[in-house]
Formats: sequence, C-alpha cells, structure tokens
Amino acid sequence: MQKHNRHRIRNLSLLVVSAVVLWLLHGLAETALRDTARLSGWLLFGMIVFLAAYNVRKKLPFLPLGSSAAWLQFHIYVGLLTAVVFGLHIGWRLPNGGLETLLASLYGIVFVSGVAGLALSRSLAKRLTTRGNEVMFERIPVYRKRIASEVETIVLTSLDTSESTAIAQFYAERLRPYFSVTRNFWHHLLQSNRPRFALLSEMKAYHRFLNDDERLVMLDLEDRVAAKDDLDYQHTLQATLKYWLFVHIPITYALVAFAVFHLMLVSSFAGGAW
Ligand code: HEM
Repeated sequence: MQKHNRHRIRNLSLLVVSAVVLWLLHGLAETALRDTARLSGWLLFGMIVFLAAYNVRKKLPFLPLGSSAAWLQFHIYVGLLTAVVFGLHIGWRLPNGGLETLLASLYGIVFVSGVAGLALSRSLAKRLTTRGNEVMFERIPVYRKRIASEVETIVLTSLDTSESTAIAQFYAERLRPYFSVTRNFWHHLLQSNRPRFALLSEMKAYHRFLNDDERLVMLDLEDRVAAKDDLDYQHTLQATLKYWLFVHIPITYALVAFAVFHLMLVSSFAGGAW
C-alpha cells in the first residue's frame, strides 16, 4: 500500500511538473511570436490519438506493447494533462464557433466521463465486496427471477393453508412490483438503504394484522426482500462499472473524427511558418 502511495505521489508530481513546463514553453513560444495555437493543437491531437489507442490496445492484448496496468497509468496521467493543453489551446476562453463549441463539448464529455469513471471504478469495486455475494452480472436476472418465483410459491402456499388473504393482498400491492424488476438504482448508487428499510418496516408493521403462522410466512418474505435488495445493489454497481465506458468510448471516436475535420479546416486556411 505504501509503495502504491509512493507511486501515486511520484506520478502526480510528474504531472504537475509537466503541466508547469508546458505552460512555460507555451508562454515562451508566444513571446517568440510562434503560432502557439498550431503547436498546442498538434500536441493535443497527438495526446488524444494516444489516449484513443488504448481501446485498440485492449482489443489486441497479445501484442507486446507493454502491460495493461502501465497503459492504464499512462492513460490516466496523459488524460489529465490534456486539460492543461486544451486550456492553452483555446486560450482559457469558451469557444464561439459551431464546430469549436462541438469539439470542446465532446472533449469535455470524454474528460469528465474519464475522471468520473476512474473514481467510480475505484470506489464501486471496493463497495461490491461489502453487500451480498458477488455474483456474475449476466446471472443476476436469473437469480432475481428465482427469488420472485420462490416468493410467489410461498404466497400461494400460504393461501392454501390459511383462511385470511392478508399476505396475498400485501404481496399483490407491495411485493409483486418490487420483485418484478431491478429497483432503486440511484439509492444503491448513492449507498442509501432507505427504500430497503422502508419496505422491511412496512412488513414488520403489517405483523399486527397476521396470525402466528402468517407472521412466520412474512418473516420468510422479509428475508427474500433483503436478498433481492442485495441483488439490486450488485446489479447497480456492476452495471455502472460496465456502462460508463459506453459514454467514454463512443464520444472518444466522435472527438477524434471532429478533431480531424477541424485540423483539415484550419490547415486549409492557414499557411506560413510556425
Ligand atoms: C481526454 C481524452 C481521453 C480520451 C480520448 C480517452 C479515451 C479512452 C479510451 C478509448 C479508453 C478505452 C476503453 C476500452 O477500450 O476499454 C479509455 C479508458 C479509460 N479511460 Fe480514458 N480517455 C480520455 C481521458 C481520460 C481521463 C482524463 C481519465 C481519468 C482521469 C480517463 C480514465 C479512463 C479509465 C479509468 C479507462 C478504463 C480503463 C480500464 O477499465 O481498463 N480517461 N479512455
């Protein structure tokens, strides 16, 4: 852990030094009346192509291009450094042309989704081990259906053995909708147990309308409610870990495509020495 922290401090220091050096070089180039927009533009484009190449690297793991962990570290720090190069490139002002605004927005989405995805991967991976059994994402709907059908069987059996329909009524109104789909995405993501405790408290409060046998049935149902809630929690966290890349990657490709277009446009208008 200490080694890990040392690496992080070293990498962060390198990041800050690189950012300061780039800033100073940019200032020098401006003083020397160089075309700094062209310089920073090419640098930014090169960095973005390198970052996008991570996707290709992941698809071709057998190529001897360095370890996956090293790529990820480079990706994160080069990705963060692009913010400085991007700022220098646009002169720390909001762009005003249509294509420039689109490009800046695409860059913003890729950058923010990268930072958010990194934070999520770090925190959610830890949280996944804290509640319920870790289950394979693809198997979650199967387990959910299994719990739902167990609950249905428990309720139907209770109808056969009891005169009262109190359990069946509660099931129809409150439990069937709960078990039918994954629920409380945002609560699980934000680590709130409020819906789980609200439903369990409601079930406990319902005990006063039940006889002894029905109370036992209700207790059984409460266990299934908790088990289904744990499954929903696993589903939410695993889905988030999986799907943030569905923003980060496609927008990366749109960014590269529009950046090439932007480059072609400015090259056809520009001329002269750097
Ligand atoms: C700004 C330009 C950026 C571009 C063009 C870019 C592009 C990409 C691409 C193409 C992937 C490959 C995903 C895959 O194939 O699985 C990726 C993954 C990733 N990016 Fe970025 N990225 C950028 C910035 C960032 C930033 C600033 C961060 C965080 C500080 C970041 C964090 C990540 C992480 C954590 C992954 C997933 C790694 C993994 O699961 O192996 N990215 N990015």
